[in-house]
Amino acid sequence: MSDKKVFFTGGAGFIAAHTIPLLLERDYSVVIYDNMTRGDRDRVNEFVATGKVELVEKDVRYGGGVREAIRGCTHAIHFATVSINKSIADPHESIDINMTGNHNVFAAAADEGVQRLVFASSASVYGDPQKLPMHEDDQLNPLTPYCISKRAGEDLLGFYQRQKGLSWNALRFFNVYGPGQKIEAYYTSVINHFIQRLRAGQAPVIDGKGEQSMDFIHVTDLAKSVVAALESEQANLPINIGTGIDTSIATLAKILIDAVGVDVEPQFNPRDVLVSRRAADITRAREVLGWEPTISVQQGMTELVKASA
Ligand SMILES: NC(=O)c1ccc[n+]([C@@H]2O[C@H](COP(=O)([O-])OP(=O)(O)OC[C@H]3O[C@@H](n4cnc5c(N)ncnc54)[C@H](O)[C@@H]3O)[C@@H](O)[C@H]2O)c1
Repeated sequence: MSDKKVFFTGGAGFIAAHTIPLLLERDYSVVIYDNMTRGDRDRVNEFVATGKVELVEKDVRYGGGVREAIRGCTHAIHFATVSINKSIADPHESIDINMTGNHNVFAAAADEGVQRLVFASSASVYGDPQKLPMHEDDQLNPLTPYCISKRAGEDLLGFYQRQKGLSWNALRFFNVYGPGQKIEAYYTSVINHFIQRLRAGQAPVIDGKGEQSMDFIHVTDLAKSVVAALESEQANLPINIGTGIDTSIATLAKILIDAVGVDVEPQFNPRDVLVSRRAADITRAREVLGWEPTISVQQGMTELVKASA
């Protein structure tokens, strides 16, 4: 058995469910550290049954628990977090979990000699972008406690790198979608909302002209970037993970109408909307991680519709 062992916070969540199989293929064993507030217990049990995954059911705010569980791990992935929606509704809890959790994990990883740590940051650290595509060196303007904690997390990694030689990569995920995602996901809930309406024979309703856009990245592609970031030669960088393509809400509606196979036209609800657009510059991901997205939005959405039928 290999001695590569990953300490994985939030390892019972959506993106982790797609990442853990890749880690097992590459001969890592995995310690899932998750308090199971949003975790998928059935999926975790399947992983545990392989004999290469264990679950430590604890909170990232409990520093002693983190330290104990990380001991002996060669790598770390830090995903445990509370979402944007919850961070707006309850800033206190969000700051507590995200900031304290970040610090507990980064400090323990640095002290316990973890070789590489991968942190889930977010495209939301940019705030409303000044230009597209969004580049890692662009100005950051995080707007919510969640986004502020992601940005602070990146800065804190820099501190432990300078202080204790911690090696890290912070992946700025764009709009992740795919099988197993919870329907209330902040940005991508629109996908589920449209699919549900289309299945009921109703037209998707779009505010304004539907010009607002997202950079939808399929979770299968995204999971590969996490493993690449764990193993890349170059490190200590924030790295955008998206497709580089901005898909407007109007285009998304058309893609989903085709995928569901109904004969309706989107309805436009004329009102002023703030048009926000997103697309990642993924040059750095290509160069540093040797990573490339392979699933087009059309293909990914069509498969998602089929899988959820
Ligand atoms: N899904 C996206 O579109 C997206 C976009 C940008 C960034 N991210 C980041 O990627 C990471 C993974 O996202 P996801 O979609 O898989 O989220 P998820 O909610 O499915 O998973 C998060 C996991 O963390 C666990 N958790 C929450 N609070 C905890 C605590 N206090 N202690 C221990 N565990 C705790 C939950 O039980 C859950 O299993 C997160 O850091 C998220 O911020 C996600």
